[in-house]
Amino acid sequence: MAWPRRCCRAPLIGWINPALKERRGETVRVLVTGGAGYIGSHLTDALMAGGHEVTVLDNLSTGRIANIRHLLDQPRFRFLCDTILDAPLTDQLIAATDVVYHLAATVGVKYVVENPLQCIVTNVRGTEIVLESAYRYCGAW
Ligand SMILES: NC(=O)c1ccc[n+]([C@@H]2O[C@H](COP(=O)([O-])OP(=O)(O)OC[C@H]3O[C@@H](n4cnc5c(N)ncnc54)[C@H](O)[C@@H]3O)[C@@H](O)[C@H]2O)c1
Repeated sequence: MAWPRRCCRAPLIGWINPALKERRGETVRVLVTGGAGYIGSHLTDALMAGGHEVTVLDNLSTGRIANIRHLLDQPRFRFLCDTILDAPLTDQLIAATDVVYHLAATVGVKYVVENPLQCIVTNVRGTEIVLESAYRYCGAW
């Protein structure tokens, strides 16, 4: 797996390059927001197959538990049914993570047309929350 490269202007404290961890044979901790969705669940499968420790944060608004049910009893897997809009929770998860894949989003034309405000809040504010914490702890862009 190709991990994101670290930004040279990012804070140095506490950040260990996930590629380095992988080379050392250490477990890489990955957070997948929207990991019960279409793309997120396939990504999660690939990460689990790669031996990584994966946390999925998904409120199941459009995602399905069926997409990740086969992983629920695996020790390297953790599922939190919650929202990225919970900033303290998202921050806490990202603080304990090496890599973040942000796929939580309000998508689908019909759903978006019927829920325009929720779409904006999730996609804009939610992404801000994830990026703020990722920058604070990881600094990898
Ligand atoms: N499917 C595609 O072909 C495609 C193509 C290009 C880009 N994308 C992008 O990939 C991302 C994921 O798309 P997808 O097709 O997997 O959609 P999806 O609806 O299957 O997945 C989105 C996931 O986000 C979760 N979610 C929504 N709001 C949340 C919140 N507030 N907190 C936590 N989880 C929340 C949903 O429950 C769902 O599981 C989107 O940004 C989409 O625009 C998808």
